[in-house]
Amino acid sequence: MTYLYFVVFGLLLLSSEALSKQDEVLDDNVASKGPVNQPPTLNRHLSRLKIDATAGVAFRYSLSPNVFTDPEDGSNLTFTLYDAENVPVSEQSWFQYDPIFRIFYGLPLREHVSRWSYILEAKDSGGLVAQVPLDIRVQMLRRARLYNHQFIMKVKLLRQFRNAIDWQIRALEGIMTLFGDMNLEHLTVLNVTQNADVYEFSWANYTLPKYSCPLEDINKLMKIMESETQPGSPSSNLIKAMSPHLQVLEIGWQGIGFCSKEELMKIHAPSEFPPRLCNSIGHLTATVGHLFVYNVSEETFTDAEDGSTRNLHLSFRFSDSSQIPSSHWLQFDAQKQEFYGVPSSNDISNANYLLIAEDSSKKVAYDNFSVEVKIAPKIICPTVEFQMTMNPSLNLLYNASNKRKVVEKLMRLFGQSDTDSIRIKNITDNPSTITLYNMSLGSKIQVETEELHKIFTVDEEDNGMNPNEHVNRVVKKDIKIASFRLIPQDSCTD
Ligand SMILES: *[C@@H]1O[C@H](CO)[C@@H](O)[C@H](O)[C@H]1NC(C)=O
Ligand SMILES: *[C@@H]1O[C@H](CO)[C@@H](O)[C@H](O)[C@H]1NC(C)=O
Ligand SMILES: *[C@@H]1O[C@H](CO)[C@@H](O)[C@H](O)[C@H]1NC(C)=O
Ligand SMILES: *[C@@H]1O[C@H](CO)[C@@H](O)[C@H](O)[C@H]1NC(C)=O
Ligand SMILES: *[C@@H]1O[C@H](CO)[C@@H](O)[C@H](O)[C@H]1NC(C)=O
Ligand SMILES: *[C@@H]1O[C@H](CO)[C@@H](O)[C@H](O)[C@H]1NC(C)=O
Ligand SMILES: *[C@@H]1O[C@H](CO)[C@@H](O)[C@H](O)[C@H]1NC(C)=O
Ligand SMILES: *[C@@H]1O[C@H](CO)[C@@H](O)[C@H](O)[C@H]1NC(C)=O
Repeated sequence: MTYLYFVVFGLLLLSSEALSKQDEVLDDNVASKGPVNQPPTLNRHLSRLKIDATAGVAFRYSLSPNVFTDPEDGSNLTFTLYDAENVPVSEQSWFQYDPIFRIFYGLPLREHVSRWSYILEAKDSGGLVAQVPLDIRVQMLRRARLYNHQFIMKVKLLRQFRNAIDWQIRALEGIMTLFGDMNLEHLTVLNVTQNADVYEFSWANYTLPKYSCPLEDINKLMKIMESETQPGSPSSNLIKAMSPHLQVLEIGWQGIGFCSKEELMKIHAPSEFPPRLCNSIGHLTATVGHLFVYNVSEETFTDAEDGSTRNLHLSFRFSDSSQIPSSHWLQFDAQKQEFYGVPSSNDISNANYLLIAEDSSKKVAYDNFSVEVKIAPKIICPTVEFQMTMNPSLNLLYNASNKRKVVEKLMRLFGQSDTDSIRIKNITDNPSTITLYNMSLGSKIQVETEELHKIFTVDEEDNGMNPNEHVNRVVKKDIKIASFRLIPQDSCTD
């Protein structure tokens, strides 16, 4: 078992209270008849143990010494793992217990995705036992259906392994060592088969791009594993990484999904495929008076030829296909692939839109999504309103991009990165005036006013609130600030 040095290490958790000592029970009668062995007991705060596992990913958990205690042997007990029918777990099982190191370890595959019930039994030196049920949930890996490759290695076992999964874990360790990548979750075991004394072990590297065929990455990894002179044979480094336990006979890879022969042929075929919607944006929520920014996920669309959403041209329309006017509160930055806008109370609604993805061959796919504009929660006790007038006018009412710019500059000015902290109360044009509340303010108007003076003005006696250097530096490029005003609110006093 010494080769199990790796990995994801979890403790079956017991809270500190749960670790409180078992009450010692001493019965005078029993004691007078000489020492009688007491059975081990299960920690009374525990009724079952639970483990979550992922298909294809090896795991290991250690058993806390406080799960069972025994009056005579303490935690020095002998453990056995039984399946739900009370039969000791076989050496062929994907789930094992190592009684010496007291660890559970496993390597479930795709066909093991399910809920499993086991029983862990603790036996003391006098042969008395206690048991605890142990449940394992094996889940499919997220995005498992997006695997586009499998590496396949044929091996012979050069020594006896106690359990079937022991050599598989040894193979994983060899691969990790070879790549100097000690994160076991980067590897997913896809299939293990046996033909006489030759075993076939196939796996995927989870970190490779999933929405296209990353041929270059795959070839780079193959180059490390495959002999330069003899295609299909292992490189000397791969041989070294597996020895002395496994003898590598063959190494290769196979394309699936985006790398399957059919998909690869499509790429070179004259007929082009349209993009596909993978993950709909669904339903979004914006709040009146607050800057809304939504970054379209790169996993929204995929395209056989062009790859991820980032390589597609996106635009958006109302769901009846009509154009979005430039005065609409919600706008789309096609370059950054993000939606933005500051809705006002006139924009309260729940509207459907279409996001249109166009690939390099001008074929399109649509995502029908909705954006709800909600009324903002009332500010219970506003302290001060801040009003800024800009000259020349920025057409803020009808230019969402300028509106966003002003709000972002204000956020920067106040050293805030959070769109929740600034609420736009009102915007007018000619001249452009923006009135806002600071949502993170305390209730001391005095302090607040002084602070804002400090941020905005050259000196505190300057009641005219002329913008100082700092302000001008932050905003100067596109915005000319004509004046500021602080309007204390007294709604709390009445
Ligand atoms: C644990 O128990 C085993 C068998 O019951 C015994 O041989 C061993 O000495 C014990 N170890 C300790 C540290 O008590
Ligand atoms: C997985 O792929 C990444 C990217 O190519 C590489 O850096 C890493 O070493 C690989 N890890 C394993 C264990 O194959
Ligand atoms: C595992 O490999 C065998 C033999 O190559 C094949 O028949 C089987 O379909 C594979 N299973 C999976 C889940 O890929
Ligand atoms: C949105 O994603 C793009 C590309 O990953 C990035 O350049 C941009 O900064 C992101 N925007 C936000 C607001 O996170
Ligand atoms: C978009 O979805 C909404 C609500 O489900 C529906 O009313 C509308 O007809 C859909 N539009 C398109 C173009 O599919
Ligand atoms: C918004 O204002 C900017 C800068 O003044 C300008 O470049 C842009 O065209 C305007 N957009 C609209 C929709 O008027
Ligand atoms: C915004 O300001 C304008 C001009 O001062 C005013 O007519 C309007 O009522 C204000 N709107 C709100 C919601 O306060
Ligand atoms: C809001 O108040 C916080 C706390 O007083 C302050 O740090 C921040 O600069 C203020 N921001 C605005 C926009 O007034």
